Amino acid sequence: MIRRSVVLGCGSYLPAKIVTNDDLAKRLETSDEWIVKRTGIKARHIAGPEEKTSDLALAAARAALADAKTDAASIDVIIVATTTPDNTFPATAARVQAALGLTAGFAFDVQAVCSGFVYALAVADNFIRLGQANKALVIGAETFSRLLDWNDRGTCVLFGDGAGAVVLGASEGKGDKTDRGILSTHLHSDGRHYDLLYADGGPGSNGKTGTVKMEGQEVFRHAVTRLAEVVDEALAANDLKPEEIDWLVPHQANQRIIEGTAKKLNMPPERVVLTIANHANTSAASIPLALAEAAKDGRLKRGQIVLLDAMGGGFTWGAAVIRW
Ligand code: UT7
Repeated sequence: MIRRSVVLGCGSYLPAKIVTNDDLAKRLETSDEWIVKRTGIKARHIAGPEEKTSDLALAAARAALADAKTDAASIDVIIVATTTPDNTFPATAARVQAALGLTAGFAFDVQAVCSGFVYALAVADNFIRLGQANKALVIGAETFSRLLDWNDRGTCVLFGDGAGAVVLGASEGKGDKTDRGILSTHLHSDGRHYDLLYADGGPGSNGKTGTVKMEGQEVFRHAVTRLAEVVDEALAANDLKPEEIDWLVPHQANQRIIEGTAKKLNMPPERVVLTIANHANTSAASIPLALAEAAKDGRLKRGQIVLLDAMGGGFTWGAAVIRW
């Protein structure tokens, strides 16, 4: 018998304000047609002036705890994946911990940009597998709008704000692919590509942070290759064939990248969870937002195999295989 981390519940939160491509086209040299054709994005949610990353994270966390029918007091570790923390320090996870009324256990942030949720999930899974935690709250939360140069049409049209969360709980498995829970996680980084996607300022979501700089085509090229590799790695590690994957829940950066991965897996579009049209790229929040949406509308069913993949600045990339 081995310990596994089972997803007990999911939750999400999106700020109320929606900015459409047409809204952006009123003040930038861009068009709905260009953005939809090149990315699949139609609209994005943008946090209000008083809304911080921790507010988004907390709302998603509460929704996930309610969905999991789990009392916050039973959570041993809170991990927030974010690139836009409230302040340089302490961790945004500490705000969430306090707001949930917790004084036991431990809380910290993970920074791997758009791969952040997969990284945080892997860290939480390892705590649970080793017996250092029985329950974990894993959150991806971002106010990426605070990091954008709103005059750079090559980047500002791509991102949005939001948060998603999952509650993980320990369970016993046989140690093979029939187990429920996280079957494997796969993390990679290659810091040689730091300058292809970065913010030219320090951390914090207080307006003194620098803005996103990206060599879009280069990032695209690397994303397609690295994601194909890590998906192969994840399938091989679990002795799974592509047709055994019920759902691909990818990081939502560009619909063309997602379609590339789906094509490689020979997966029909109806087995890919796509939220990019309405959420845009919410960095570490995009996968848990997509999981929460597909869990809530009944697409994800107990016992199905779910494949997550993500790629982001660093470069970082990774994948996870979960039996729901
Ligand atoms: O989440 C982390 C990972 N991030 C990614 O995976 C992003 C990867 N990159 C991409 O998704 C794509 O490269 C972009 C969507 C960012 C750009 O699409 P592209 O097809 O690579 O376009 P491009 O950068 O080659 O630009 C093509 C043209 C250029 O004009 P010229 O030089 O051909 O005259 C750009 O100036 O499109 C122009 N352009 C725009 N036009 C209208 C760039 N941004 C815009 C815009 N509206 N917003």
